[in-house]
Order: sequence, then C-alpha cells, then structure tokens
Amino acid sequence: MKKLLVIAMACAALCAVLVGCGTNAAAPSASGSSQQPQASSPASRSTAATQQGIDYLALVNKLNPLPAGWEDALETVHFTNSVGDDVEVEKKAYDAYLALKAELESEGVHVDLDSARRSVAEQQRIMDDFTAKYGADYAKKTVATPGYSEHHTGLALDLYLIIDGKDVTENAEMEQYPEIWEKIHAKLAAHGFILRYLNGDEHITGYGYEPWHIRYIDDPAIADEIMGRGITFEEYKAGKTAPEVFYDYGNSSLYTRAELEEAAVQAKCEFAEFAGCELHSLRYAGDGFNTKENLDWLNSLDEGANYTQVVKLLSDYHSPVKGGGAWEPDKEYTDYEWWLARADGKGWQLVSFGY
Ligand code: DAL
Ligand code: ZN
Repeated sequence: MKKLLVIAMACAALCAVLVGCGTNAAAPSASGSSQQPQASSPASRSTAATQQGIDYLALVNKLNPLPAGWEDALETVHFTNSVGDDVEVEKKAYDAYLALKAELESEGVHVDLDSARRSVAEQQRIMDDFTAKYGADYAKKTVATPGYSEHHTGLALDLYLIIDGKDVTENAEMEQYPEIWEKIHAKLAAHGFILRYLNGDEHITGYGYEPWHIRYIDDPAIADEIMGRGITFEEYKAGKTAPEVFYDYGNSSLYTRAELEEAAVQAKCEFAEFAGCELHSLRYAGDGFNTKENLDWLNSLDEGANYTQVVKLLSDYHSPVKGGGAWEPDKEYTDYEWWLARADGKGWQLVSFGY
C-alpha cells in the first residue's frame, strides 16, 4: 500500500491534459497475414452519433477517460490475425494500418496486430492478470485503468514483429529490436499514426516506453508535427512543450544507473497524475538511505512485501498557476520525496511519496 505523506494527490481538477507507463498488456501472439475484415454491427449504432463521427484527436489518458458517447459513433472492423485472434480496429485506422504494413513489407519489415480496440471488460481482465502476475504497482505502470485506456477508442494499435518468419510477441523480446522499431516509427506519420508512449516522457504520458503502441490520429500533417518535434500527444494537445527534466543519479555503489532509472520510471508514472504540474528535476538521494530503519518502515507499509533494498529519490516540480487539489497556486515544490523498495528478484515498487 502506498502511503502519501503530506501532500495529498487530489489535484485531478485542472488541466487534465499533461499526464500521462506501457502495457505488456495484451499477451501478444504470432505472425502471418490478415484476413478480410468484417464491419461490426452498424445497425445497432445511433444515427446522430454516427453522423457526427468520432474525434480522431481525442486524448484518452490517466486523467481523461474515453469520451461519453464514443461507442455510439465508433465504426470498427474485425479481422483475424495470424494466430487466430479476433482483432477489432476503428475503420479508418485499419485502412491506414494496412497501408503502413504494406509499405513496411516492401522494405522487409513484417508486423501484425496483436491488440487494438478493447472493451472495458477486456481491459479489466488484462489489469487483473497483470496485477496477479506482477503486482499492482507494475500493473499500474503498464496497463491503463479500465475506462481510461486509449485502446477503448479503437485508434490505439499494438504491433508485434515477425522476424525471419518467427513471431516476436513478448514485450521484453520486442524491445531487443530498436533498429526495426526505428524503421517503423519513421513511417508512422505519413499514414496518420503517432508513437504514443515515448522513452523518457513517462512523467507526461504516465506509462513506460512502448515502441509497439501506435495511435491513429487521421491527420498526417499533425502526426508529422508531433513525430517531428518528438513531443507527446499530451504536449501537442496542451499547446505547450514540457520543460526538460534535470536528472542526477549520483554515484551509487549499490545500484547501477539502469536500476536507478528503472526506479525513476515508477516515480515518473505516478507524477503524471499530478494534473497540471511540471516536473523539473529528479535526483537520487544517496546510498545512505538504504538502511534497516527505512526498510522496516517501508515493509510496515506493505505487508508481506519483504523488501530488501531502498531507493529514495527527490524531485522539484511546479504546481499549476491556478493551483488545484492540494497544491498551492504557481509554486515550486522542492525536495519532494519518492520512496521505492524492492524484494529480492523483484522490480521496484513505489511505496511512499510526499513530504
Ligand atoms: N498499455 C496502455 C497504457 C493501455 O493499457 O491502454
Ligand atoms: Zn497498447
């Protein structure tokens, strides 16, 4: 259980835009070619809503749920992927995906679609599965809360790779092919897609890097701007770019830089829920905090966790101009504390944060 020390996190009021860690969610599958799509029961849809259509630039993230009435206006197609899974995709996004896939194939890059539109019930199943397997904190960083997943829109597509005829479907394995993802990402914008969860921007998106999760926004010019500037969709929608974050991981003799960065991602994903706040710095507080006393404290907050190592991070951030929730308006909060711990052989858990 997390324990918030002093500042409560109720600031979910204003600028619910800048937010934003990645799902290994759908257990991906295998390779092959797509079958003919079939339109999904349009007869059951509201005529007015269908005429209005969906907003291809709708932002769905940790602070913004699926817009009301979305389902009424959504038109989807179903196809069966190579391993026989049914995949449902928004209609225009599917056409754009097929064009992207064909272009990639002409250059020797093969992809298929693991997961696209998900119902709230499907998202809940994935969340339950991840929570049971990896714990609630990891699940939170990788799987969106049901109702708040971009996958509900039908516009978010999870790709998987087919390399030398072999399906590369597990997230950890897919991450081993950065050069292939680079080729894929370079072609997204021309087909109206953007990369959604960028490496390093977890404090904005709220999710870890997901090279496979692409989002259809329909407009290649806007997609080109977003991809060209290397900004998040949140920043584009907010009309402003978040400031660079200053990182200082110090000189730890306990942890590697990569281990500290992993802990930082957990904290950053949580920070993304500090609506309207801007992260300025994130710093390692030093090996001196890995004490028995701190371990006892964190273990007392999380019964049965058996934590054996502690990392304390400090951050500075700025509250929204108008304040909101527990934050005073337009104020720089300094040395805000993030306490992470891990048990032997397990990942970092964010156990406590605040003053
Ligand atoms: N993997 C993304 C965050 C989702 O579950 O929607
Ligand atoms: Zn996804």
